[in-house]
Amino acid sequence: MPGCLVRTKKYAIIYFINTRKRKVWYRFAVLFFTDMAVTLTKRLATVAELVRGGAYFADVGTDHGYLPVWLVQNGRISRAIAADINEKPLASAQKTIEKHHLEQQIVTICSDGLENVDPSVEDIAVAGMGGELIAQIIGRAEWIKNPQKNLLLQPMTQAAHLRRYLAENGFAVLREQPAQEGRRLYIVLQACWDGKKRVLSDAEALAGRCLEQTDELSQRYLKSAADKQRKIAAGLKTAENFTEAKRREALAEELERFLLK
Ligand SMILES: C[S@@+](CC[C@H](N)C(=O)[O-])C[C@H]1O[C@@H](n2cnc3c(N)ncnc32)[C@H](O)[C@@H]1O
Repeated sequence: MPGCLVRTKKYAIIYFINTRKRKVWYRFAVLFFTDMAVTLTKRLATVAELVRGGAYFADVGTDHGYLPVWLVQNGRISRAIAADINEKPLASAQKTIEKHHLEQQIVTICSDGLENVDPSVEDIAVAGMGGELIAQIIGRAEWIKNPQKNLLLQPMTQAAHLRRYLAENGFAVLREQPAQEGRRLYIVLQACWDGKKRVLSDAEALAGRCLEQTDELSQRYLKSAADKQRKIAAGLKTAENFTEAKRREALAEELERFLLK
């Protein structure tokens, strides 16, 4: 074989090996780095944003444990409790913690709500549960009635119930932050106890602080609350319950008055 052809073949083999090697290294790097870092959904990222830097943190109903792991990995906090009432989610959280070598910073505990949680925690998240259950969890822990505690509550349903519970029991909602994932809007409430009891109107219970917030997501949350009332009113009309239908329509109008023109 002529010398130039041998050389070409040799370079072709080297190129082929390098390409394969590159692919293997690339795959390894992807696997390595995705293995190293936990990523949060928009909903949980919104909860994470409201955790104070350096706080001793408790995640109640932690399930997979992503929230405390992300917070520690990103240097936002240095220690946390990951609590859950069920064995399976606790084991899953423990697995996430061990996978990321964070056993020194995050401990898992079995706890019904805040029952076994160290009362010296400063920031507490209760996310991904119904509003009624979140209200019950808060109501069963007297020590949470402390203005120093930062509560991050993310109800999947019954947000109005939770807002009323907080208002009637001396908790102030400092801020509400909607989070959008696909077409679904979630809400995260940041609350703390100040001992002042409040009475909420129906509109306040349905849209909370979004009534006075002008950012795009808050306005979208407000619009969605109004649309829901209009839909309920239409159903009530079909069922010939005109009095309640009228009340719902009036409520939708009240909510819509807070929308920016
Ligand atoms: C849907 S997951 C939410 C997980 C995570 N917090 C999130 O937002 O993605 C709800 C978790 O709450 C736990 N849970 C339900 N009731 C609870 C209670 N009373 N106390 C502690 N955890 C509870 C469940 O076992 C489950 O792991």
